Amino acid sequence: MKVDRKGRLEGKVAVITGAASGIGRATAVVFAREGAKLALATDKNIDGLKETLKLVEQEGGEAFIKKTSVAVEEEVKELIDLALKTYSKIDILCNIAGVTAQVSTLEEQSPEEWKRIYEINVLGAVYGTKHVAKHMQERRSGAIVNMASVAGIRSGAGANSYSASKAAIINFTQTAACDLGGFNVRVNAVCPGLIETGMTKPVFDYARKAGKEEKLGSRCELRRYGLPEEVAYAILFLASDEASYITGQALPVDGGNTASLNLPGMKV
Ligand SMILES: NC(=O)c1ccc[n+]([C@@H]2O[C@H](COP(=O)([O-])OP(=O)(O)OC[C@H]3O[C@@H](n4cnc5c(N)ncnc54)[C@H](O)[C@@H]3O)[C@@H](O)[C@H]2O)c1
Repeated sequence: MKVDRKGRLEGKVAVITGAASGIGRATAVVFAREGAKLALATDKNIDGLKETLKLVEQEGGEAFIKKTSVAVEEEVKELIDLALKTYSKIDILCNIAGVTAQVSTLEEQSPEEWKRIYEINVLGAVYGTKHVAKHMQERRSGAIVNMASVAGIRSGAGANSYSASKAAIINFTQTAACDLGGFNVRVNAVCPGLIETGMTKPVFDYARKAGKEEKLGSRCELRRYGLPEEVAYAILFLASDEASYITGQALPVDGGNTASLNLPGMKV
């Protein structure tokens, strides 16, 4: 078999939201390493976004950064328009930006909090997909990767609103894949388990302080938590031409967490 030594995203242009830290940053670095040109966005953490740009440039990559809240449709449109103006095309959109909510009882949960989670985690991806779709349809080519979670597959991995938003993303991935499949535009999602990032820092800090680090991810079949790069490589695969016959899927990247009923007392 002939091995192609070119980057796996050579000549591609990718827009990545939530690129200031965690999984979004790791995705930007991996994509740059594989030859993609990048449009990187985040809402508030501009210092973090500048740091990501530095890491991308260290990989020999090319990128621009833009302050963008995915919860504001006009800002998402401006990001897509700028990427098109800068690079003349968009091959890949990674809707990675997301926020979590405090775990609380149903009585404590406010409509405002549910709306905030949905505006970022769900509508953010909807706006991105909407504004890139026409361009990708015209080119009859494109790959969109959405950020779901194991929390969207089962309960027990976060607040009700967070879980519901990630379940919504899995279904939006399927419906958008149906809408765009006839135009050779693929839409997939990844469902990470516990990954060490800014979002999960409080969980990691608490466990370490309590001397319980070995508990982190211990209920996964691989008996450990994951790293941002391990999710980034799954995103890379789904975004690349290697996944040319895969659409409408939500891939768990969770150390086997969702593969098991994980009944107490059943593990050796
Ligand atoms: N860390 C985990 O264990 C885990 C597991 C499953 C899914 N996820 C998902 O992965 C994605 C990335 O999170 P992470 O874990 O890397 O955490 P993170 O907090 O390090 O990254 C989140 C990113 O989203 C950005 N962001 C937040 N609100 C935004 C907005 N309104 N507009 C634009 N950008 C915004 C943040 O600035 C940051 O860059 C999220 O969608 C999260 O739900 C994380």
